Amino acid sequence: MADMSSCVALVLAAGKGTRMRSQKPKVLHRLLDAPMLAYVISALSPVFQDRIFAVSGHLAESLEEAFPGLKFIRQTEQLGTGHALACALPALEAAGAAKILVLNGDAPLVTTETIESFLQKAAGADLAFASITLPDPCAYGRVLRKDGQVTEIVEAKDYDPGLYGQPSGEVNAGLYLLDAAAARKLLPLLRNDNKNGEYYLTDLIGLGLAAGLKVLGIPCGDDPSLLGVNSPAELADAEDLLAARTTKALLASGALIHNPGAARISPFAQIEPGADITAPCEIYGSSTIAAGAKVGPYCVIINSRIGQDAQIRPFCHLEDAVIETACIVGPYARLRPGAKMEEGAHAGNFVELKKTTLGKGAKANHLSYLGDAEIGANANIGAGAITCNYDGQRKFRTTIGEKAFIGSNSALVAPVAIGAGALVGAGSVITEDVPPDALALARGRQANKPRKK
Ligand code: UD1
Ligand code: MG
Repeated sequence: MADMSSCVALVLAAGKGTRMRSQKPKVLHRLLDAPMLAYVISALSPVFQDRIFAVSGHLAESLEEAFPGLKFIRQTEQLGTGHALACALPALEAAGAAKILVLNGDAPLVTTETIESFLQKAAGADLAFASITLPDPCAYGRVLRKDGQVTEIVEAKDYDPGLYGQPSGEVNAGLYLLDAAAARKLLPLLRNDNKNGEYYLTDLIGLGLAAGLKVLGIPCGDDPSLLGVNSPAELADAEDLLAARTTKALLASGALIHNPGAARISPFAQIEPGADITAPCEIYGSSTIAAGAKVGPYCVIINSRIGQDAQIRPFCHLEDAVIETACIVGPYARLRPGAKMEEGAHAGNFVELKKTTLGKGAKANHLSYLGDAEIGANANIGAGAITCNYDGQRKFRTTIGEKAFIGSNSALVAPVAIGAGALVGAGSVITEDVPPDALALARGRQANKPRKK
């Protein structure tokens, strides 16, 4: 469309999602660890920027909290998709909308390309909608045509084959372009005398034709990007499709993915060409994986940054962690929020880091808990050493200087500082600061005695 400035997008997201049988708003259900609505907004954003509105209703507060930057319009009672549009229209017109792209919020597979191509084809119509053709029209609204021209959309529950004949398989995809003035004129004519007792947006098609408006049904083939999600099974199918699509695009871009069928990588993650990932894996959120980094199988990586040439060995769990260049993590390491490993650091098997920086080249290779700690460059944390950071009420910090050596099975009772170059004897319970380059021993001395027979 030539002038997009007066075209706004409206996402319908107020429905109860009864078929999900869950307590939360349907569009907050997650695929590849991001809410359904995030995908819809991300597909719309390049075209509509800040001209995106969403209708909230059922559990509106939790939805609005999850999308703080989005413009919400409340539909206090969920009386149907037509009613949702009617609730939103005054606010949209007040924002200068002459054309409204309406999209169901339960279409997480939708792409920017699909939206752009639909907008182009729909440009000249007063009312237009996208249709797809499915082998089984399931619960979708059925598109009726006469001599090629669409005549109406009949919802599945209201479809009487005796009256309408066998359905063609062409169904309404839930993507519309509406002239605001036409919508204003037609919405008051909607009635709810149907099986659901709802005001259907889809009835605008028949009403528009009766009013002599230009109405277009735009066939989009069997485009899976327009599939709706109404049940847990459809959510699982959509998630599979999304994972497959993302993996395919990454492979095409030059990322190396072994066993790709088992990769679950969010499209919001950034995987550089030359990153080497072995599935099964789950890589979610705003994670980034740099070129040359290697991720072994059975890893879960959430909102984490993996630097160049770093190795994440199998069975690691990382969340909100930063791994710099050439670090080695795992196998079997757990990096919790605030974990940071600077260049060349190692965290080996059964090592847990939380709000802890492991400095350049520092190593904690076995069986360690390091929380609320700052560990200097090239320090060595022995097997089984832990920071005792919590007294049952509050958390305290531990600092360990450069090149310090913490002997195996030591307990560092925070708050405590170990100086640079200090050595803590194995098995020590350290409750006082250790000066730089000192040897600290805090354990009972060994006594060898004759054995009683
Ligand atoms: C709808 C269409 C159907 C189409 C299908 C495509 C209608 C009447 N039917 O059916 O023709 O084939 O989508 O996926 O529109 N919503 C509100 N307020 C309400 C009711 C719903 O905001 O009062 C929102 C829902 O949150 C959802 C969207 O509108 O995101 C569609 O509602 P849903 O109940 O999923 O409609 P379908 O039965 O899938
Ligand atoms: Mg739906």
